[in-house]
Amino acid sequence: MHNHSYIYSFKYDVHNKELCKLESRQIFGQEEKNNLLFSNIKVDPSISPFIKGRFEIISSSEDYSILLKKIKKENIRIEGFKAEYLVLNGDSTRYTERLEKLKDIGYSIEGEPDYNTPSITYSICHYNNIWYFGVLIKHNSDWFKHKKKPCSFSSAINMVIAKTLVSIASKGNKSNRLLDACCGVGTVLLEACISGFNIEGCDINWKACKYTRDNLAHYKYIAKVYCSDIKDLSCEYDTAIIDLPYNLYSFSNDTITLNIIESAAKLTPRIVIVSASDIETLITQSGLKISDFCSVGKKGKKFTRNIWVCEKNRMN
Ligand SMILES: C[S@@+](CC[C@H](N)C(=O)[O-])C[C@H]1O[C@@H](n2cnc3c(N)ncnc32)[C@H](O)[C@@H]1O
Repeated sequence: MHNHSYIYSFKYDVHNKELCKLESRQIFGQEEKNNLLFSNIKVDPSISPFIKGRFEIISSSEDYSILLKKIKKENIRIEGFKAEYLVLNGDSTRYTERLEKLKDIGYSIEGEPDYNTPSITYSICHYNNIWYFGVLIKHNSDWFKHKKKPCSFSSAINMVIAKTLVSIASKGNKSNRLLDACCGVGTVLLEACISGFNIEGCDINWKACKYTRDNLAHYKYIAKVYCSDIKDLSCEYDTAIIDLPYNLYSFSNDTITLNIIESAAKLTPRIVIVSASDIETLITQSGLKISDFCSVGKKGKKFTRNIWVCEKNRMN
């Protein structure tokens, strides 16, 4: 029997597998397996592009009739609830049986159900011969609206990576102070703002800053954007994200890369670095310790983004 409070379910495309696993290691300290993860760590499922839902376990049993008795014992009285069967990987329960079980759950709760705008969603699922009853919080896909952000550069990072950078940088903690050190048009800031993270942005290019501010204003998000070289910033942050210039649309070389990384390291003990090239030697040269890594291939293109999670060495 699992001794955990939450079951997280995941969904991702093959090319994002390593990115999802990196996120999972950083948030939960373990990788999802079989699109599932049991944990005592509570995070908002909508901070991740890969978490489909968080199931908060109320009771469980190997015996379905015992589970029903346990549910009735909870004496749940609530108006506007909904009951939903959560099909986890490996659950072969047939559709008709799933419907029967949903009815059982419905009859075990006192109150009028509301299927369209439920006040709470109770759920049942089956995994490794154990039945679980709990509350289901589903992923909110409102962030897809950022696909239509008014301003963009072709060097902008894709939304899925941007969202994952925020979840990795924050580890799901919404009180952490985050910095996007090279914010471009603000793709990362939008993903942070929609989930209520505390983030600021910085870019040396005035046009990028204008575009970021226009994008934020379009969705009525509030975040400070510094039009500045990162070396001139002086605030402190819990984690910084750096999507480095790729020498494609803005000039870059090893000296520039090193300067950006070293400047960010003065503001924070932890940095999530993104680059199209292999800059591991430069990261080590800057005195940072690499604690985690993954490589993400861009669908249909040869362009790869490398992501390093780095910590400041204690002696620095
Ligand atoms: C790859 S782009 C970032 C793209 C961004 N993630 C987005 O989605 O739009 C790198 C950005 O770094 C900025 N940059 C380059 N050197 C910088 C520095 N010293 N300080 C701050 N920003 C810098 C560039 O102006 C460019 O907008």
